[in-house]
Amino acid sequence: MFFESRIFSTIAEMSEAALADVLRILNDAVAKRGRFSIALAGGHTPAKLYALWAEKYKTQTPWDRVHLFFGDERFVPEDDLLSNYRMARQTLIDHVPIPKENVHPMLTNFPSTEKAAEAYEVELRKFFGESAPALDVQLLGLGVEGHTASLFPGSPALDEQRRWVGAVTAPADPPQRLTLTPVVLNQGLNTFFLVAGENKREILAALRSEPPNVPSKYPAGRIRPARGVVWYLDQAAAG
Ligand code: 6PG
Repeated sequence: MFFESRIFSTIAEMSEAALADVLRILNDAVAKRGRFSIALAGGHTPAKLYALWAEKYKTQTPWDRVHLFFGDERFVPEDDLLSNYRMARQTLIDHVPIPKENVHPMLTNFPSTEKAAEAYEVELRKFFGESAPALDVQLLGLGVEGHTASLFPGSPALDEQRRWVGAVTAPADPPQRLTLTPVVLNQGLNTFFLVAGENKREILAALRSEPPNVPSKYPAGRIRPARGVVWYLDQAAAG
């Protein structure tokens, strides 16, 4: 598939560069529309970018204009070690003066993932209105088997046509998860995959070698917003 990638020696350099691009888009969105929306990714890779944002760019960010959403969440309590919201709080949110109402976690204090997914769709509609959200930036990660957000290979959520948020069972720990569906992820205005580490080399090679005009075998390759995708890679992942 067509693969626009930027390769950096270290994850620190990769995170700096991706954050610089996020901040440029943020300033532009605020100037044009008065607000900026971003979907944060979970996993380990984006932690560095979040920490850098809090450490180096806290005072330059107009936090009252910034809205933080999430691309996916594990269905665990919000202080659980596996919670993506917890990771984002500890690295970024707790360290910056963002108004509480600008933080939009995928809440998990519901009796079922289905209820939690419905509640998050309501939250998205309050902000974006009735047509599918086009986030200013969506940060995404890549799993070794090609998953992104919590869209895993073979998941029915990949073929979702209507719902914005899926309640999914993943072959991962924990299996119960919430995820934005391609209905939303294929609208993103700027989509950045952040991928680091040697264990991602093989899946990246597989994605790169797919023919451009057929649907990808991998969930990550099925995210094809009209405005394109940029892959930020460290050297270890790029090979
Ligand atoms: C999650 C994710 C997931 C993640 C990838 C990569 O909640 O698990 O958002 O899609 O981005 O698994 O994770 P790493 O950055 O830890 O490799």
